[in-house]
Amino acid sequence: MSETTVIQKIQEAAAFIRKETGIQPQIGLILGSGLGVLADLIEQPIVVDYSKIPHFPVSTVEGHAGELVVGTIQGKPVLVMKGRFHAYEGYGADTVSFPVRVMKELGVQTLIVTNAAGGINTSYQVGDLMVISDHLNLTNRNPLIGPNDNALGVRFPDMSEAYSKRLRKLAHDVAASQNFKLQEGVYVGLLGPNYETPAEIRMFRTLGGDAVGMSTVPEVIVARHAGIDVLGFSCISNMASGILDQPLSHDEVMETTEKVKPKFLKLVLGIIKAL
Ligand code: HPA
Repeated sequence: MSETTVIQKIQEAAAFIRKETGIQPQIGLILGSGLGVLADLIEQPIVVDYSKIPHFPVSTVEGHAGELVVGTIQGKPVLVMKGRFHAYEGYGADTVSFPVRVMKELGVQTLIVTNAAGGINTSYQVGDLMVISDHLNLTNRNPLIGPNDNALGVRFPDMSEAYSKRLRKLAHDVAASQNFKLQEGVYVGLLGPNYETPAEIRMFRTLGGDAVGMSTVPEVIVARHAGIDVLGFSCISNMASGILDQPLSHDEVMETTEKVKPKFLKLVLGIIKAL
C-alpha cells in the first residue's frame, strides 16, 4: 500500500462512518473475545457492519461480532468496535490496526482496549481484571513498518507511556469505589494462534510478563503513533499454560469472560463517566 492510498482509505472509511452515524466520537473502544456486550449499553446505538465500511477487514473468529456501534455512553460520544482483527487470521499488523487510524480521523482522543488473556502472574486468579501497565511486543510484527507518513505520526514514536498513567490511576480509583481490586501488569503480545507451551510461559514470566494474549499490541502502537491516549484491560480468562494441570481451550476463555461481564461493564461505565 502506498502512503497516499493509506490516507485515502482512512478518509473514505471515516467519511462513510460519519455519513452513517452523524456522530463525532471522542472515545473509542475495542472489545475483545466475549466482551462485546458493552456495546449494548450505548444509548441510541447506530450499528455499522464492518463489511459495509470501505477498506475495513472482516473478522473471522467465533465470539467476535464484526460491527461498529456508535452512539453515546453516559452522554459521551463513543465508537465501539465489537470484534477486532488478529494477525493470526492472516492480516498484516497495519490492517489489524487500520480501524484505529479511522478512529483518529473521526476525532477519537482516548482509546480503551480490552482483551481476554492468560494469567502468567501466579498471584492472579481466573476472572481477575488487569489494567495494562505496559506491553512486550513479542509478535515479531509492527504496524508502522514501511515509509512513514508524517501526517499520521512521527517516524520513531515514543512508547515510554504507551498506557496512560493518568487513565490507569483513574481505573484504580473507579475499581476501588466499586470495591474490587484491579490487578496491574505487563501484557505479553504474541502472534498465536496456538496457546503457549509451559516453557514459553516460564520464559515470559522471567521477562516480566503478567498476562499473555494474541491481540492489542498493534492497535496500541498505532494509537500512540497517532497521539491517542490508551487505557487497556485484560480479563484473566484462564491461567496460562502449565500453571494448572489442565489443557487450555477457547471455550474456557469464553466461559470466563461471560462470568466477568458484569464487573467489567460496571468498571468501564464508571471510567467513561469519569473521563
Ligand atoms: N494465551 C494466549 N492468548 C490467550 C490466552 C492464553 O492463555 N487466554 C486468552 N487469550
